Amino acid sequence: MKIAIVTGVLGGIGKACAQALTGAGYGVVGMDVVEPAGNKAFEGLPFTYIKGDLADGACREQLVETALAQGE
Ligand SMILES: NC(=O)c1ccc[n+]([C@@H]2O[C@H](COP(=O)([O-])OP(=O)(O)OC[C@H]3O[C@@H](n4cnc5c(N)ncnc54)[C@H](O)[C@@H]3O)[C@@H](O)[C@H]2O)c1
Repeated sequence: MKIAIVTGVLGGIGKACAQALTGAGYGVVGMDVVEPAGNKAFEGLPFTYIKGDLADGACREQLVETALAQGE
């Protein structure tokens, strides 16, 4: 499966992009700084959430490494 990275994934544009990408057959690895509590938008979809700050290099590395590990 091809994997897409979506940043700010719990915001308006990020969520819409992630839903469109999963609908197009991609797996999505998404990052946002907020807790995903109560967010059911991605239930049942090939979606992995990582809570992290994109301003932090270690978080960005974790995001890319997770996507690479899941990709084809
Ligand atoms: N160019 C344009 O025409 C246009 C139009 C609309 C929005 N935008 C921009 O696109 C971006 C997204 O818009 P939106 O409406 O989805 O905003 P939004 O506020 O709904 O979502 C942004 C998300 O990014 C997350 N976020 C912020 N800082 C972060 C960080 N350091 N690390 C990880 N996650 C972080 C927030 O928690 C939030 O969930 C904004 O920057 C907005 O200004 C541009």
